[in-house]
Amino acid sequence: MNHFVSMKDVTEHELMQLIKLSDEMDYNNGSTPFKEQLFAGNLFFEPSTRTKMSFLVAERKLGIEALDFHNESSSTLKGESMYDTAKTFESIGASFLVIRHSTNNTAQQLAKQINIPIINAGDGTGEHPTQCLLDLYTMYEEFKEFRGLNVAIVGDIKHSRVARSNAYALQTLGANVFLSCKKEWQDPSLDFPYMELDQAVKICDVIMLLRVQEERHKQHNRLYKTSYLSDYGLTKERANNMLDHAIIMHPAPVNRGVEIDSELVECKNSRIFKQMENGVKTRMAVIYQLCQSRGITHGNYYQKRQPIIVK
Ligand code: NCD
Repeated sequence: MNHFVSMKDVTEHELMQLIKLSDEMDYNNGSTPFKEQLFAGNLFFEPSTRTKMSFLVAERKLGIEALDFHNESSSTLKGESMYDTAKTFESIGASFLVIRHSTNNTAQQLAKQINIPIINAGDGTGEHPTQCLLDLYTMYEEFKEFRGLNVAIVGDIKHSRVARSNAYALQTLGANVFLSCKKEWQDPSLDFPYMELDQAVKICDVIMLLRVQEERHKQHNRLYKTSYLSDYGLTKERANNMLDHAIIMHPAPVNRGVEIDSELVECKNSRIFKQMENGVKTRMAVIYQLCQSRGITHGNYYQKRQPIIVK
C-alpha cells in the first residue's frame, strides 16, 4: 500500500490488516514508533471538523508534527496550483500528505505525481477512504464479520463520497449492500440494489445514513428539508421497526431532524459518536501502515543525499 486514496485499490486482506492494526494503536505521544521526527502536511481545502481534528490527534499520538496549513492564508490565494503546493510540502520534508478537496480525483492525481504517501481525506463526490475504514472498524467491533452482513446506505447517494467508498469496500468484504434514496439521488455508476427505507430497516444489520450534500447540489432547495425526514429519513417509527441488534451510523455532521430524528442520534442503537472515537485509531493505523510499507524513518527518505564536497 503506497497511498490511501480509493477503496477500489484496497484488497480484503489489506482491509482486515488495517482493522487489526487499528486495534493495536496504543501509542500516545512520546511512545512514537518512528525513529526520527516525521511531519504531516494536512491540506484541507474544504471545511472539516471531525476528519481534520482526528488526523491531528492521530498524528500527535504517533509523535508526528503536523505542519500548520491554512488554505485561507496560503499561497493558493496567489494562484499556486495544487500540485505546486503538494510538491512544496514534499520538498520541505513532509513525510505524507492528507488532502481534502472539492474536486474529484485530486488525491488520486497527486498520488501519481508526488513521492510521499497521499491520504485522501475526501475528494468532491468521489471517495473518503479513511471515513470508510472507521465505519468498517465500527461494524467489525459490533459484528466480528462482514460476510453476509446486510448494510443499507441511505440518503444522498449521488453526491456522497462516503457512500461510494463504503459500497466498494463492503462489497470487497462480502457484505450485502443496499442503497436507499429518492430517485434523483440514485447513482447509475453504483451497481447495487435499491430498497425503500421502510423495507431496509426490517432486514438490515446496519443503517448507514448520509448527510444531504447541499453544497454539491446544482440547485439549492432548502424546501426539501420540510418533508425529507418523513419521506426518506430515519424517523422514530422506522427505527422501531429495526432489528434489535441493528446499529445506526452517520459520518456526520448530522442534520438533526432531516436525515434522522434528533432523539435517535444518541439512542442505544446509534454508533454515531463511536464512529468519531474510532476515527483516531483507524487514522493512526493508515499513517503507520503507509510509513512502514515505504520504509519511512524521516521526512526526506526519498532523497538520496549527495554529500557536498568542499575542496
Ligand atoms: C463527511 C465528508 O466530509 O464527506 N464528513 C466527514 O468526513 N465526517 C460526510 C459529510 O460531510 O457529509
